[in-house]
Amino acid sequence: MNQPDDLIVCRCEEISLGEIRDAVREGARDPDAVKRMTRAGMGLCQSKTCFNLIARLIHEETGIPLRDLKPFTTRPPVRPVPVKSWGAVRVKSCEK
Ligand code: FES
Repeated sequence: MNQPDDLIVCRCEEISLGEIRDAVREGARDPDAVKRMTRAGMGLCQSKTCFNLIARLIHEETGIPLRDLKPFTTRPPVRPVPVKSWGAVRVKSCEK
């Protein structure tokens, strides 16, 4: 990928091409390893925007075929919710 290092690849987490390239050069050999090292792919879009770019960079840096690079392990986004949204949930008091 012939682009400057400061190019943002993962917009949700603001991870640059240089950060991802460094992770691959330090040993990341699959998208999940890049994710653990940089947080790329952990944003709200859950890598829908950045996965292909990250996979392509890994392929270009390592020669690993694109078909061998599995998608990120997906997890639902976790967001805080107000207690009042729980509706009828009853909370026991700890006081005696
Ligand atoms: S652009 Fe990377 S997680 Fe959204």
